[in-house]
Amino acid sequence: MSAAAGTATLPPWPRCDRTRAWGALAGHWQAHGRDLDLREAFARDPRRFESLSFAAPEVFADLSKNRIDLAAMRFLLDLARECGLESRRDAMLAGAVANATEGRAVLHTALRAPRGAATPFNAEVHAVLDAMLAFAEQVRERAARSGTGDADSLTDIVHIGIGGSDLGPAMAVRALEAFRHRRLRLHFVSNVDGHDIAPVLAALRPERTLVIVASKTFTTQETMANAAVARRWFVAGAPAGADIANHFVGVTTNLKAAAEFGITRTFGFWDWVGGRYSLWSAIGLPIAIAVGSAGFRELLAGARAMDEHFAGSPLEANLPVLLGLADLWNRNFHGYTSRCVAPYHQGLAHLPAYLQQLEMESNGKGVDLAGEPVPFATSPVVWGEPGTNGQHAFFQMLHQGTDVVPVEFIAVKRPAHEHPDLHAKLLANCLAQGQALMLGKSVDEAAAENVPTAAADLDCAVLARHRRFPGNRPSTTLVLDALTPRSLGALIALYEHRVWTSGALWNINSFDQWGVELGKALANRLLPRLDATVPGAKLGDAAGLDGSTAGLLRRLTST
Ligand code: F6P
Repeated sequence: MSAAAGTATLPPWPRCDRTRAWGALAGHWQAHGRDLDLREAFARDPRRFESLSFAAPEVFADLSKNRIDLAAMRFLLDLARECGLESRRDAMLAGAVANATEGRAVLHTALRAPRGAATPFNAEVHAVLDAMLAFAEQVRERAARSGTGDADSLTDIVHIGIGGSDLGPAMAVRALEAFRHRRLRLHFVSNVDGHDIAPVLAALRPERTLVIVASKTFTTQETMANAAVARRWFVAGAPAGADIANHFVGVTTNLKAAAEFGITRTFGFWDWVGGRYSLWSAIGLPIAIAVGSAGFRELLAGARAMDEHFAGSPLEANLPVLLGLADLWNRNFHGYTSRCVAPYHQGLAHLPAYLQQLEMESNGKGVDLAGEPVPFATSPVVWGEPGTNGQHAFFQMLHQGTDVVPVEFIAVKRPAHEHPDLHAKLLANCLAQGQALMLGKSVDEAAAENVPTAAADLDCAVLARHRRFPGNRPSTTLVLDALTPRSLGALIALYEHRVWTSGALWNINSFDQWGVELGKALANRLLPRLDATVPGAKLGDAAGLDGSTAGLLRRLTST
């Protein structure tokens, strides 16, 4: 879909390490930050929780268990101002070319603006939104008729996409399970591995299935290959009268390619919507089908509330900015290399994977906007699993391993189920993990305990050293009152703006992804050596390859 991108380019801004505030932060870290002890900090300041916890629409955040103090926060806010964070934010929201290497505006926020708002492309956004939501409602009606013998009814949706065209919808549909249309099953296929699509299609009837092909470019290898498999499956199995026009829908900026593929019903979006920021666009179609148009509008409204908070709150109370600043402090001063996301809500099981793309594809960059290598660390590794499962897997390392990993807990006050006893246990575990990371357990405390499970002949002092927890390990806790379309929208927008904040301070382009190109190109060159059916194929031909790749190719293609 074509729509003029922004025209104004952003003026150059000082990179964070070239500011006066950066020097002040470095000095403060040496004098106070490096050795900050969380237990002492809480003992010294009984109001530490109040001073370092913040409220934004739908989300409350406790940063007080981070190894940060108020002076560091002040220097970080100075840094933000010296780096022109507020005017950069305003320019981006107004449609400036914030994605300089691709010459594009960055306007996913415009997708959340209400009808009539003075935001760029408002009329176009609402025209597509209305059409997409009307279609979602039609699909829900077709689902409501399932089991009645109605030839047009539907039971299953298969969404084919990858990266930003998969992770957002898959994450949100899972998160909003409690709001899902009860007669519809939604399946997400992303991997080019046939083990992904084959079992999904095998269990479905073509005439009861709607296939959504979602790809911003409509050229992505994985999505195009899976879409072709789905089309073959449909043509081979659909009874007379069921046609592609009624069972396939495309979501893309490349309407021409979708038409060439044979899809006649398409919802478009724009080049100023980055893939990993696209769930608010027609890419969110499966979310709208799952929760209905009212639910989808709630999702947008929650994100919009967070956008207004981000755009209008003073930096001192601006939660995405404060989280982004704390991230920079943890990454560049404490030197923590990763962040563990531990949602204590099973519905948020896909959130860590979603955040991996959001943060690591956005901020995993090594050069600044001028193309100069940056002398500081950028994106941490983002990873995680829902609690309490993670506690029985990798939390051992978080508590006693040699690396310190800040943990981000997400707690939800009210569950959507009828098991208050389970929910109380879940929340008790969530709070306990943050406590344990912070408080730890000294050797003396461990030595004073009676441990019936320890080996009888083990020296008590040795056992106490094994059972010591260093403590002073940082965590942040986010709290939602309930997981709803609105709160999910606010939470995701919070993460988007937070990732932007650290990326803007690092002066990197958070909106391109050149780092994914090389592997794609090499895979295309290797394909004829692995697939005898592609034009020019030379199966197993290792000529010109490095020794390792040649050896592996021979191993994989030998008969
Ligand atoms: O490979 C990276 C990427 O370009 C992501 O940024 C994007 O979300 C994904 O591929 C899918 O791209 P498309 O929506 O064009 O199929």
